[in-house]
Amino acid sequence: MIKEDTFLEIRSLEKSFGSQKVLKGIDLDVQRGETLVILGGSGCGKSVLMKHLIGLLQPDTGSVIFQGKDLAKLKERELTFARRRISMMFQSGALFDSMTVKENIAFPLREAGIHDKEEIVERVAEALNIVKLPGQEEKMPSELSGGMRKRVALARAVVEKPCCVLYDEPHAGLDPVTADAIDHLIKDLEQDHGITNIVVTHEMRSVFRIASRVVFMKEGEIYWEGTPQELKEPKDQILSDFIHGRSAEPWGKPRP
Ligand SMILES: Nc1ncnc2c1ncn2[C@@H]1O[C@H](COP(=O)(O)OP(=O)(O)O)[C@@H](O)[C@H]1O
Ligand SMILES: [Mg+2]
Repeated sequence: MIKEDTFLEIRSLEKSFGSQKVLKGIDLDVQRGETLVILGGSGCGKSVLMKHLIGLLQPDTGSVIFQGKDLAKLKERELTFARRRISMMFQSGALFDSMTVKENIAFPLREAGIHDKEEIVERVAEALNIVKLPGQEEKMPSELSGGMRKRVALARAVVEKPCCVLYDEPHAGLDPVTADAIDHLIKDLEQDHGITNIVVTHEMRSVFRIASRVVFMKEGEIYWEGTPQELKEPKDQILSDFIHGRSAEPWGKPRP
């Protein structure tokens, strides 16, 4: 039974690269308007899963269903439309260094065929307001701090007014204060703009600040799913070790 407010349905998703099975049957529903945090060790398949949600990768078997349609079965034009509804802030948050902030943020608009100068100026200003960087249009990325670059990357992700934003490690390399600022923006997008957020992060403080719900991935599967409150009192040893940053076998010896 599909809940009415289910935004994305991921069903039995499997993906291999060569002989390496990376996703081993992911089942997950994303609810409209929630901030879902995905946790898991490096290499467990988080980025690969995210790329399936914007149709950048196609599953070997299983499906990603968005607004009742299987993303893998969409025609190019429909997929382009879906990509505009779901946007992604990539792991590196990469900006084009030779372009101004304005040109970087306008890039997806031009790709979408919007060439009206006034509209572009307006939309870029609006996106910069959302990320609390008004008036920074003419700066070059090299003039910005790491935190500001992330915000510009986020402005670029929201300029097309998506209904869902995916963030792949948005806190990576940020100091705690800047990470906190990013969390505020993520929460603002949820609360003020009704955006559904899906966030991959290793920053545990952020998880408790932003998550409505948490899933923990392990070796290509969803190992645990629950609320931030449940995560605070993990009943499971593997989960507990992960959130407290404990290696299960320090120096190769079994945990005492
Ligand atoms: N395009 C690709 N081709 C081959 N292997 C890939 C590709 N993308 C990811 N992988 C492999 O899939 C596994 C999961 O990667 P990834 O999803 O990036 O991990 P993480 O959970 O750290 O984001 C890794 O072993 C990675 O090397
Ligand atoms: Mg990754």
